[in-house]
Amino acid sequence: MMERTLGIIKPDGVGRDIIGTVLERIEKAGLKIVALKMIRMSKVQAKGFYKVHEGRPFYESVTDFMSSGPCVVMILEGDDAIAAYRGLMGATNYEEAAEGTIRRDFATDIEKNVVHGSDSPETARFEMDYFFSALEAAPA
Ligand code: CMP
Repeated sequence: MMERTLGIIKPDGVGRDIIGTVLERIEKAGLKIVALKMIRMSKVQAKGFYKVHEGRPFYESVTDFMSSGPCVVMILEGDDAIAAYRGLMGATNYEEAAEGTIRRDFATDIEKNVVHGSDSPETARFEMDYFFSALEAAPA
């Protein structure tokens, strides 16, 4: 099923100059990058993005981290894009991520895990709309 998902290269990935590496893995996996830009979130914007995690012990820390530098945000399209991109990223905790995944290869910490991807169609809709206008995310 053709699907869209929201992907982020987090401030650690941007800071370590692996934007190109991550984008290459995405393209080689057959996912189409249909929208892409670099942004810098304020603390308030990061809190809005991770609102689903409000109250969890890592909420303050992850929203500090996500507002600490620029991120690359993108919309990816493809067959089962949500699961396909999550497979490419690997588990949230890089120590549990499968060999060859982005997080296994580049993450340094459960928080500084290089990339984010939506975890369901509902989350994908919310997250794509959070960063992209209808004009930027042209329909397929
Ligand atoms: P992400 O997939 O973007 O979703 C929430 C983020 O919070 C997660 O990746 C990590 O960067 C961060 N985080 C830090 N600690 C945890 C934790 N214990 N469980 C889940 N996410 C965590």
